[in-house]
Amino acid sequence: MSRSIGLSPALEAYVRDANRAEHPALARCREETAAMGEDAKMQISPEQGAFLQMIVHLVNARDAIEIGVFTGYSATAAALAMKERHGAEARLVACDISAEFMAKATGYFEEAGVSEIIEPRVGPASPSLDQLIDADEGGGFDYVFVDADKPGYLDYYDRVVTLLRPGGVVVFDNVLWSGDVADPDKSDDDTVALRDIARRAKADQRVDIAFTSIGDGLLLCTKR
Ligand SMILES: C[S@@+](CC[C@H](N)C(=O)[O-])C[C@H]1O[C@@H](n2cnc3c(N)ncnc32)[C@H](O)[C@@H]1O
Repeated sequence: MSRSIGLSPALEAYVRDANRAEHPALARCREETAAMGEDAKMQISPEQGAFLQMIVHLVNARDAIEIGVFTGYSATAAALAMKERHGAEARLVACDISAEFMAKATGYFEEAGVSEIIEPRVGPASPSLDQLIDADEGGGFDYVFVDADKPGYLDYYDRVVTLLRPGGVVVFDNVLWSGDVADPDKSDDDTVALRDIARRAKADQRVDIAFTSIGDGLLLCTKR
C-alpha cells in the first residue's frame, strides 16, 4: 500500500525525508504509477521499499522471489539491493498474473539496470512456485516478498516455506488490511485470508515470526 496506516501526513513526510532518496527509476515508477488512479494504492510506500532493501541486505539475498509485481516498485527495489551485493549472479523470479502490469514493470527494470537479473513469470503465482519446486529448487531462495491476491496467501505459504533456505525470509504485505483484520464486523474473503495467514504462521514451528505494524502490516517469517 502506498501509505503507512496510522501516520499523520507530517510524520509520514518526516519518515520519507529521513530515508535516503529513492533510485531515479523508483522515483519515476512512483510518479507514473500515481497517475493510474485507484490502482496506484497497490504500490508499496518508499519507506517500505527502503525496509525491504534492508531485509535483502540482512539476509544477503542472492536468489529471490516476488509474488505480486504490479508496476515493479518492490521488485526493482529488491533487485537493486541484490545486484549491489551479487552483481549478475543475483536472480529475482518475479510473478504476476497480469501481462499488462509486467510490461510496465519491465520498463522500470530496464531503467534501473536490473532487467538481466529478473525472470518475469506471467500467470497465477502458485503454478510458477510449483515449477520451481518441481525443478528441485526447494531450499534455494533467500528472500520472498508476497504482495498479491490475499486469498492466495495460504496457497503460497507452504510453497514458499519449501522454497526458502534455512535462515531465508518471507515477507507478507498488508497483514493489517487498513485495520480491518481487527474489526469483528469484517468477514470478506481478503480479511479472513489475512487473519488465516497470521494464525498459520504463528502456529508453524518451521519458522520464527515477527508480525509488525510497518506500512499496512508486514509479517516476516524466517525458516528455522
Ligand atoms: C498490491 S499489487 C503489488 C504491488 C507491488 N508489490 C508494488 O510494489 O507495486 C498486487 C499484484 O498482484 C497481482 N496478482 C493478483 N492475483 C495474482 C495471482 N493469483 N498470481 C500472481 N499475481 C497476482 C496483481 O496483478 C497485482 O499486480
